Amino acid sequence: SGPNSHIFFVLGASGDLAKKKIYPTLWWLYRDGFLPEGTRFIGYARSQITVDKIFENAAKYMKVQEDEKETFAKFKTLNSYVAGSYDKGEDFERLTNEANHLSKQESAHRLFYLALPPSVYGSVSELISKHCRPKSPGWLRLIVEKPFGKDLQSSNKLSEHLSKFFSEEEIYRIDHYLGKEMVQNIIVLRFSNQILSRVWNRDSIAAVIIIFKEDIGTQGRGGYFDEFGILRDVIQNHLMQILSILAMEKPRSTKGEDIRNEKVKVLRCVAPIKPEDVVIGQYYGDKDSKDPEHQKGYLDDDGVPKDSTTPTYAQVVVSINNERWAGVPFILRAGKALNEKKAEIRIQFRDVPGDMFDDDNRASGESKKLSRDELVMRVQPNEAVYLKLNTKRPGEMGFSIDETELDLTYGERYKGVKLPDAYERLILDVFMGSKINFVRSDELEEAWRIVDPVLADIEKKKIPVIPYKFGSIGIREAFDVAAKHGYVFRG
Ligand code: BG6
Repeated sequence: SGPNSHIFFVLGASGDLAKKKIYPTLWWLYRDGFLPEGTRFIGYARSQITVDKIFENAAKYMKVQEDEKETFAKFKTLNSYVAGSYDKGEDFERLTNEANHLSKQESAHRLFYLALPPSVYGSVSELISKHCRPKSPGWLRLIVEKPFGKDLQSSNKLSEHLSKFFSEEEIYRIDHYLGKEMVQNIIVLRFSNQILSRVWNRDSIAAVIIIFKEDIGTQGRGGYFDEFGILRDVIQNHLMQILSILAMEKPRSTKGEDIRNEKVKVLRCVAPIKPEDVVIGQYYGDKDSKDPEHQKGYLDDDGVPKDSTTPTYAQVVVSINNERWAGVPFILRAGKALNEKKAEIRIQFRDVPGDMFDDDNRASGESKKLSRDELVMRVQPNEAVYLKLNTKRPGEMGFSIDETELDLTYGERYKGVKLPDAYERLILDVFMGSKINFVRSDELEEAWRIVDPVLADIEKKKIPVIPYKFGSIGIREAFDVAAKHGYVFRG
């Protein structure tokens, strides 16, 4: 290996995340030639397993094609595995020895991915810093997965702990939504289009809604999930990150620090969420469903206590107290076990003042108000940006109006363009040292500050948990709250 070789460590190599995301991602990056020449991979976990076993478990997710077999075999030879504890210095010494041995140098750059339960973040990060630092000029980068704590206090404690052993420069807090194509596109759409930047404010926008829906339940992850709930699992991180990019002022440049400065600035303007603006729910099984998965409610998940009130659905309304956004509701809604898998952002514009297309001018039978314009960014599936507009119904007399769309569906406009998985982009970012798509400690702190009071109210059971059926479209009460804030539902 040359002077610039890299070693990528997967801590928690036997776990779920490593199997489903990290190993497949490393393979794809290797296959596509994105990783620096000579990069090696070392898995680490407590169990006495082998590289063979890890690859066997991950095979289903790696999706190796027939003509990739040879490359894959090569990739595999670059992997090794060390078994050890998460709390003993000598085990981390062994890890370092293995790394030195493999790369035949002590100054190879080292990337550590913590795919671990949060309970061991503290000891593992400390031991990495003490025993696994490369010799100069090698650098170290630590990739940390959520949950970053459970609330403001525990998150701050973790941040403090990490900052004792690592510089902020070395820490990469991953939020995989920042690696998604459409989330990255928000910045380009907003700041490269005059037609959008002019209307991106309270004068033109009536409401913003950020929606996350899944059509699966907790699927055996109930043990983890029950301790966290949907607010911590999805809203505090993924949706709050999207919110900050949607609402921030224009950064001075596209540099990571400039963008993150603006994100944190707008989060600081968010007022505490009021309890009456919170709706939470938990799914129950649909006994009539033909799908056995849908028959199981949240409480049927083995890891979940039978009397759990942990929300699997939540909606909060956030208001931003600044000149651009005062009075505009930002509605964040997330739910598991719903009718579809979808994540989207809807920017709803205000009613047209002085609508001249009154009933008399409508085609027969129509008497509704003009529909509001809406800009929709569909994050997944089937990425798209479309603008809902009113247009004259072609071929008809008079002024009958059709709601239609200016439609940029990626599958059509960018046919054949492969969109990399979020983890591919983000891990590559870490190799390159780019921080744009990672969460800074002050952003994290603000995001916790915003949801902290709601979490406390839920903890104290001050907010009713509304049951909803697996496979339903959501909770009526949530739609009502959104409507009360002026968001007009349109399909
Ligand atoms: C994770 C959550 O962060 O995001 C999961 O812990 C959720 O509960 C997942 O299923 C959703 O990610 P994606 O990329 O499938 O939308």
